Amino acid sequence: QVTRLWGGRFAGGPSEALARLSLSTHFDWRLARHDIAGSRAHARVLHSAGLLDSEELDRMLAGLDRLEADVASGAFTPVLEDEDVHTALERGFIERVGPELGGRLRAGRSRNDQIATLVRMYLREQARAIADEVLDLVAALAEQAHANIDVAMPGRTHLQHAQPVLLAHHLMAHAWPLVRDVERLRDWDRRADASAYGSGALAGSSLGLDPGAVAADLGFSTSVENSIDGTAARDVVAEFGFVAAMIGVDLSRFAEEIILWSTKEFSFVTLDDAFATGSSIMPQKKNPDIAELARGKSGRLVGDLAGLLTTLKGLPLAYNRDLQEDKEPVFDAVDTLRLLLPAFTGMVATLAFNRERMAELAPQGFSLATDIAEWLVRRRVPFREAHELAGACVRACEERGIDLPELADADFAAISPHLTPEVREVLTVAGSLDSRAGKGGTAPARVREQLERLRAAVEEH
Ligand code: ARG
Repeated sequence: QVTRLWGGRFAGGPSEALARLSLSTHFDWRLARHDIAGSRAHARVLHSAGLLDSEELDRMLAGLDRLEADVASGAFTPVLEDEDVHTALERGFIERVGPELGGRLRAGRSRNDQIATLVRMYLREQARAIADEVLDLVAALAEQAHANIDVAMPGRTHLQHAQPVLLAHHLMAHAWPLVRDVERLRDWDRRADASAYGSGALAGSSLGLDPGAVAADLGFSTSVENSIDGTAARDVVAEFGFVAAMIGVDLSRFAEEIILWSTKEFSFVTLDDAFATGSSIMPQKKNPDIAELARGKSGRLVGDLAGLLTTLKGLPLAYNRDLQEDKEPVFDAVDTLRLLLPAFTGMVATLAFNRERMAELAPQGFSLATDIAEWLVRRRVPFREAHELAGACVRACEERGIDLPELADADFAAISPHLTPEVREVLTVAGSLDSRAGKGGTAPARVREQLERLRAAVEEH
């Protein structure tokens, strides 16, 4: 049985090798529901344009309902001869309503404007689901920040001890990029919100069909301005791929820290048993596999994006079959995130922080040296000189193998008369934290306000 949509000018069928190369149902079948929704909308504009009478429209819609039910139940599936999701569903439709009526549905549309529209419909749905899952992760981070609101830790630059910060501050530094990723998805949606139906193969339709009506029917605010652009552009797919890759990279950076933090050497965090794995040979092992898979899969997401962009580069207008290669990478990006995000959120929600260990390390590594310098500045010492004097304090400590608070009043005085005993007020982690009291700083009062704003951002989205 021939199901091809383009047999007329060909003497025979395609070679088996071509048929196998051309086949896309194994990945585009996931668009079946959207394809049927598109067919319903298309049938309605054919009717509005006077190309179907009401009775024909009703029979078509009933046939599409039956087809949709059979697709959902698995009673209808593509066969090897069906080149793609559109071909398979046209076959299924004709089987249900007969060739006379069934053969009328394709008028005025092309697989080129169909696929461009369906991919947008599918990705818009997935973008909403992914945004919700990212927000679940942000909420888990906010919850951990709340539960550990008073815990100090060593803040690092270059992975070296830099200045003490609140753990909650650090955790929220992972949350804000994710909030921006959600904003990126919302913003992306504004550009994805245009139907390509009505573009036909590339030049538009001569049948008087209303693209705006199809667009509205399919949940789009508008239809594309240019039929060539509508069928040939895939920037909307690539941009989705970028946001997916960015989410992956944001997870990966946090994952790397969780991996470090759960080492014996750091001992900052213990993973919940339900979100860690063991070793087949070493009985003592508890491994951060979710974090490692997040780190690994971020490479895969970057690869999906790179593949998409490379496919697009150099493609002339309008549609080229190369464009079929957009689907597997972007579907892979969707599947990867939908698999990863719930596991990652579960891991984060159940992290047990070793507060004592973090607090103990917070002041180490001379992380209060900046506090000495800034204390001197508040006493009108020029920063260049203050920096030198604080550095001299560190040197004095290193020579004697002690830490800054252990310097005697006389030691401070010997370094500079500016260094009066009151300097000790900033030589505690609490004093250091409290002093960073500008907006965005790690002072506990500011961090509490920040937490409120983060929670509001979760609510708002
Ligand atoms: N399956 C194709 C795609 O994913 C759509 C079909 C267009 N085929 C064609 N010969 N014009 O882009």
